[in-house]
Amino acid sequence: MEKIKAAVIGTGGMGHGHAESYQALGERVELAAACDIDGDKAAWFAREFGIPHVYTDYNEMMAKEHLDCVSVTTWNAAHKGAAIAALRGGANVICEKPMAMNAEEAEEMKRAADESGKLLQVGFVRRFGHDADTIRALAAAGVMGDIYYAKANYLRRDGCPGGWFGDKAYSGGGPLIDLGVHVIDLSRYLAGNPKPVCAYGVTYNNLGCNRAAGGEKCWNPPRDRKNYAYSVEDFASALVTFENGFTLQVEASFNLNIPHDVRTIQLFGTKAGAKVEGGVELYTDMAGMFINAQPQGDTCFGFDQGLRDEIRNFVDASQGLAECRATAEDGLVLMKILDAIYESARIGRSVEIR
Ligand SMILES: NC(=O)c1ccc[n+]([C@@H]2O[C@H](COP(=O)([O-])OP(=O)(O)OC[C@H]3O[C@@H](n4cnc5c(N)ncnc54)[C@H](O)[C@@H]3O)[C@@H](O)[C@H]2O)c1
Repeated sequence: MEKIKAAVIGTGGMGHGHAESYQALGERVELAAACDIDGDKAAWFAREFGIPHVYTDYNEMMAKEHLDCVSVTTWNAAHKGAAIAALRGGANVICEKPMAMNAEEAEEMKRAADESGKLLQVGFVRRFGHDADTIRALAAAGVMGDIYYAKANYLRRDGCPGGWFGDKAYSGGGPLIDLGVHVIDLSRYLAGNPKPVCAYGVTYNNLGCNRAAGGEKCWNPPRDRKNYAYSVEDFASALVTFENGFTLQVEASFNLNIPHDVRTIQLFGTKAGAKVEGGVELYTDMAGMFINAQPQGDTCFGFDQGLRDEIRNFVDASQGLAECRATAEDGLVLMKILDAIYESARIGRSVEIR
């Protein structure tokens, strides 16, 4: 099989993660080019990964390189343009989550993928955790029964990443689009990818950015010296209903008055419930007794492992060796859910999802 030529657009934190995951595939993949609007950053990235060609414009990169696979790891506002350019330039694309700023952009990206006949995968890394594999296996074996309700939390006490993440013009929103997207998608994936029908949501911006450090602390300090606004919500909560009767309650925060950060998904089925929190626990009843069970082995989500398996799935799917496990359609459905929650929070009523 021919060696895959890959490139990364956006050479920041996630760009590094994608490049390392391509390198983990050894001889199968050649990292051929890197692109960032910050030329110094792209050059430094290229030196680190031994990448021969560096660009500051993804259109120029797509015109000059013959690429099979492209990772889009820019800030969210650039996902659409970069992904469409790469698809039209003949490459398969994996685009980081959230797929886009909103469903309209996601729709355009999906259309570009359909028209080009190329693959557009979305970076839902949580689908590749051992915790997700464990629940999917239990659900497929009928252990859970029908999963009819889920509660998903991704709550940080003091954790806006800073920089562009807090600026709606670059991010599209706060913890809902940044963190909530992970647990909404994972809950939906574990429940068998049902179609959403309605959302009721609330958002708040009461606490400001990194209040304990007077707004100074952030783990994504802007190198580019841009004066980013802090214009996103601190906290979002929503109830989302689905066509098959499944309901999801979700909460996500950058800032919230809680004792410690929380990242939990609870699933409730007709035969068993499960909790995903640093591993998997199962709750059921047998012979008139309540039973709590812990599957043995590694049932945890590990970020590096998840990302490596995600990139392997992307490369395999690009070569027709596997089915893509996080499709453009999944990304679009998620953007529709997020749009509906934000719109519901704005108008104070529930919003239908079509
Ligand atoms: N899967 C996950 O768990 C996970 C974790 C963190 C971030 N992310 C996502 O990954 C993406 C990147 O996040 P990050 O933390 O790496 O951000 P980052 O700020 O470290 O890197 C983003 C880079 O994109 C570059 N860029 C912006 N517009 C560009 C354009 N038009 N062309 C080329 N480069 C451009 C910026 O200069 C910057 O270097 C975001 O969409 C974020 O939501 C996903």
